[in-house]
Amino acid sequence: MKSNAPNDSEPVLRDHAYDGIQEYDQKLPNWWLFTWYITMVWFVIAWVAYYQFGMGMADEAAIDTAMAKIAEHQKRELEQINDDKLWDMSKDPKIVAAGAATYSATCIACHAPDMSAKLAGAKLPGLALNDKEWKHGNSPVQLLTIIRKGAPDVTKGMPPWEPQLGINRVVEVLAFILSKHEKGEAFTLAPDSPLKK
Ligand code: HEC
Repeated sequence: MKSNAPNDSEPVLRDHAYDGIQEYDQKLPNWWLFTWYITMVWFVIAWVAYYQFGMGMADEAAIDTAMAKIAEHQKRELEQINDDKLWDMSKDPKIVAAGAATYSATCIACHAPDMSAKLAGAKLPGLALNDKEWKHGNSPVQLLTIIRKGAPDVTKGMPPWEPQLGINRVVEVLAFILSKHEKGEAFTLAPDSPLKK
């Protein structure tokens, strides 16, 4: 049996033998050991930086995380929205002005600049939004749903606007529509309303 005395040219063998097999007992080179230790330390640093602080995350992953936070926040806000809050917004000149701009850019083609759904005597595809008869809801919260998600029957041609405008502009444009109405005015459901049972 060879001794354990280190000798660069001779492999060092362990004392014990299993079934006549002996193991080498050699120290790994320092450069190898240090590289290994560095990878261990680096693992901890990288794990904390990436997963805990989001450092160095791919843009896409970082955006996904941020968007999920925003969506969660909006969901909480939307759960708290009610008719009174929407009527209050319709009295806020800033919100109404922003809504008017969105309306001009997005809604007039079908609902007409004056919301009558008529232009120069011709009937436009949309429904009048300045009258007291509603097909898809007689409360602001119901109208909010229609503007966000579109008409239940897509073939009728009212598209969902939330994906394109985002919830803020949808709320603003509804505030603008409500500004042409009075809180507490009698809204009636149209004869062909799906809400009429
Ligand atoms: C491509 C045409 C088109 C555009 C653009 C459009 N709408 Fe409509 N909208 C319609 C149609 C058609 C209906 C009726 C759907 C039905 O009969 O089910 C409707 C219905 C509505 C209703 C429900 C009316 C009711 O009586 O219940 C609201 C509110 C409304 N639209 C708001 C908007 C707003 C706000 C915009 C702009 C962001 C907009 N619409 C853009 C076609 C359009």
